[in-house]
Amino acid sequence: MKFIIFNGSPAGANSNTNVIAEAFLNGAKKAGADTENVFLINKNIGHCKGCFNCWFKTPGKCVMQDDMTELLVKYNSADVVCFASPVYTWNMTAALKNFADRLVPLKSPLIVNSDENFDLVDSNPKTQQFMVISNCGFPGNNNFETMKAVFASCNPVLEIYRNCGKLLKSKDSEVKKTVNEYLQAVEQAGFEMATQNYVSADTKLKLERQLMSIPEYVKYIGM
Ligand SMILES: Cc1cc2nc3c(=O)[nH]c(=O)nc-3n(C[C@H](O)[C@H](O)[C@H](O)COP(=O)(O)O)c2cc1C
Repeated sequence: MKFIIFNGSPAGANSNTNVIAEAFLNGAKKAGADTENVFLINKNIGHCKGCFNCWFKTPGKCVMQDDMTELLVKYNSADVVCFASPVYTWNMTAALKNFADRLVPLKSPLIVNSDENFDLVDSNPKTQQFMVISNCGFPGNNNFETMKAVFASCNPVLEIYRNCGKLLKSKDSEVKKTVNEYLQAVEQAGFEMATQNYVSADTKLKLERQLMSIPEYVKYIGM
């Protein structure tokens, strides 16, 4: 079983998003899965030109020659694809959105209507599962609403939304203890996904725990 994470944080490997991603992949690795962690910020990915050549002239193939060629192969080779990003302006980062736009060669120009929700048919029947990892700087979960709405279209099997993201790399020993417990739950989620293809309700509950009260957090980040 192969897991691949596409991380859209401009901070790449040093990102808070990657703290969660690494814990998840460690759990999956412990269960024997193959894993790959891609930092989109280090890749050369142009903006989709909207020419639709990848549908009508060279089906499945983009006219642009950049790192997306290699990334589409990686994307297709994975059993579980994870979209990862911090919240930037109530949404995913531009790097992840750009990557998502460039997935258009995997679609075909056929519209499917499911209960008045219109989407495009995949050019190859989808066998993959999808998941999302995100963190945001504010307390509260309202910051994730846009990402939840966008990624609902790929019916994710798991969504890890971590508010109070500034705590993930805290050096305070008390905070570190809480964060480590949280990251153990993330690791467990990776292990469960790799062994049973879903995450138990108990582990999901642990992923949703508050790391700190809102007044404490506001004080902690000095705002
Ligand atoms: C341009 C910009 C926009 C941001 N917008 C939001 C936002 O809308 N909501 C929020 O909670 N945090 C926001 N943040 C804070 C980041 O989500 C937070 O710093 C996060 O921990 C960064 O994660 P990373 O290290 O994975 O990149 C923003 C940060 C930047 C730089």
